[in-house]
Amino acid sequence: MIIFSAMSKGAVLFFSMTGNNKRFASKASAEKKYDLIELFPGNFLRVFSIPFNSLARSAIKKLSLEKYSDIIIYSPVWAGKPSPAVTELIKSGKLKGKRLRINLTHMGGNDCTEKEVNLLVKSNSLRILSIKMTDLRKK
Ligand SMILES: Cc1cc2nc3c(=O)[nH]c(=O)nc-3n(C[C@H](O)[C@H](O)[C@H](O)COP(=O)(O)O)c2cc1C
Repeated sequence: MIIFSAMSKGAVLFFSMTGNNKRFASKASAEKKYDLIELFPGNFLRVFSIPFNSLARSAIKKLSLEKYSDIIIYSPVWAGKPSPAVTELIKSGKLKGKRLRINLTHMGGNDCTEKEVNLLVKSNSLRILSIKMTDLRKK
């Protein structure tokens, strides 16, 4: 799903299985007047992008982000990492040179996640402005 707004220099990208990240991303997109882009939409079968990350990779391949300078990402933590769609996006090279903010939601099992995301971002030479972790149990 892509909703365009005229002259937007930013995009809010999200992956969501049960709706929380969709809600946060929609709110951020409306507030900032950034385009809203859903990464890898679909049903619960997307959970198989954990063992078969080529599924997420092919969804990311179709994505065009050239016109954006600012990107805000919303994703759940899955198996201690950002969802496979977001991990593949980070590895894809499509975020190079963007001003990047990453927001991750979780259910408490995230001890090493922030450190891992920092390493992932660094090893892909990305410029990151912030990483925010949100524990949904406290929401
Ligand atoms: C396949 C799967 C793996 C998950 N792994 C973790 C995890 O490792 N740590 C954690 O705290 N929460 C984990 N969760 C919970 C999700 O992070 C939480 O439900 C999510 O942030 C909700 O976002 P959404 O409503 O946008 O899908 C997992 C959920 C799913 C479906």
